[in-house]
Amino acid sequence: MKILIVGSGGREHALAWKIAQSPLVKKIFAAPGNPGIAALAECRPVPAHHLEGIRDLALAERVDLAVIGPDDCLAAGAVDLLQAAGVRAFGPTQAAARIESSKSFAKELMAEERIPTARSAAFSDFQRACDYVDSHPLPSVVKASGLALGKGAVICHSREHARQALRSMMVDKLFGQAGETVVVEEFLEGREVSIHALCDGSQAALFPPAQDHKAVSDGDQGPNTGGMGCCCPVPWVTQDMLAEIKRRIVEPVLRALARRGAPFKGCLYPGLMLTRDGFKVLEFNARFGDPETQAYMPLLESDLVEALLACAEGTLGRTGVKWGRGAAACVIAASEGYPGAYRKGLEIAGLDEAGRVPGVSVFQAGTAVDQGKLVTSGGRVLGVTGCAESLEGALESAYRAMGLITFQGMHYRRDIGRRDQRMAGDHG
Ligand SMILES: Nc1ncnc2c1ncn2[C@@H]1O[C@H](COP(=O)(O)OP(=O)(O)O)[C@@H](O)[C@H]1O
Ligand SMILES: [Mg+2]
Repeated sequence: MKILIVGSGGREHALAWKIAQSPLVKKIFAAPGNPGIAALAECRPVPAHHLEGIRDLALAERVDLAVIGPDDCLAAGAVDLLQAAGVRAFGPTQAAARIESSKSFAKELMAEERIPTARSAAFSDFQRACDYVDSHPLPSVVKASGLALGKGAVICHSREHARQALRSMMVDKLFGQAGETVVVEEFLEGREVSIHALCDGSQAALFPPAQDHKAVSDGDQGPNTGGMGCCCPVPWVTQDMLAEIKRRIVEPVLRALARRGAPFKGCLYPGLMLTRDGFKVLEFNARFGDPETQAYMPLLESDLVEALLACAEGTLGRTGVKWGRGAAACVIAASEGYPGAYRKGLEIAGLDEAGRVPGVSVFQAGTAVDQGKLVTSGGRVLGVTGCAESLEGALESAYRAMGLITFQGMHYRRDIGRRDQRMAGDHG
């Protein structure tokens, strides 16, 4: 089989790494890929968002399956375009991807299906949004309805701050169209967990729970990033909780989207918060998470290609998905200044040594090759995943390998997984 992977991040490197292990696969293409992916696949210089270019590449190389990584490609209809050309694709159609690309749509659907989530209202009129904030308790959470690179949710502790957030989104159009509609919702307290479920339109196979670390610095300090690290599984999420999440959240979404003529095939990734009143949905994503995927892939026992095909074909119930028993921890190394401005083109050393640490995989994200040398080219530069019997062991390997990698200004969090140690029941 020939597989095309669309995207260029650590997520896509991890997917390529796992796909390359499948006996079903003869050749992998990536568009555009990155230097890490290039060791496993033939990279073609087609940008991920150039959908016609992606389709033409898939047709020219007669690929058997296209796997779409980025959210904006799915929201723009990459899967629809590929399917119309007769190319099998993994990922939701544009209509199904609305569960991520329109938070107001997702909120409406959750209300109709009685899926637990924060109380909210959606607005496209600035003054009405302000009036709503004024008549509801603080803090309030203001969210751009559309895709905003993970920067579109603002927790507001004063009415003035909320008004400012609304103004920047609705009037100043900080996120363009994505902020023309906003969702204002109640502030929830609790612990967050990421759930991923492979879905074939009607059935779902849940991954072990994962915990992302969004803030740039230790102790969850500093601004939010695309994600600085991830652990899997999360000790305080029990099997019973997972079964409940599947029954009360994942399956109702699949039924609701199917009923609306938009069956969801792909990876459904709800962000949840465990509150005093049980799990509530913060948002739905319609693709693999990053860095979550970098932690997941080394733990996955099943053949990923078989599972992705089953999702596309609607046969997941027969195929199933098997997970290893251990734990994985991924730590992200970022450029100096990230998530703000940063320099590029700084030489990276030590990747080979790091990759030789037992149980460790190194995935590349913001890297490039310049005159034969591997250099930085993005904010999140690479991810180091350690796998072991225990989370403690996984963290130890990941940090040992990270200690062997250097580039000027490199920084990473030293406390990944530290807040995951508490068990169900102890709050705070
Ligand atoms: N209702 C809420 N109450 C408290 N915190 C929230 C709420 N909604 C979002 N958050 C926080 O903001 C983060 C980003 O919100 P999310 O809805 O996931 O948007 P996005 O990922 O698109 O930026 C969440 O991971 C969570 O930490
Ligand atoms: Mg989120």
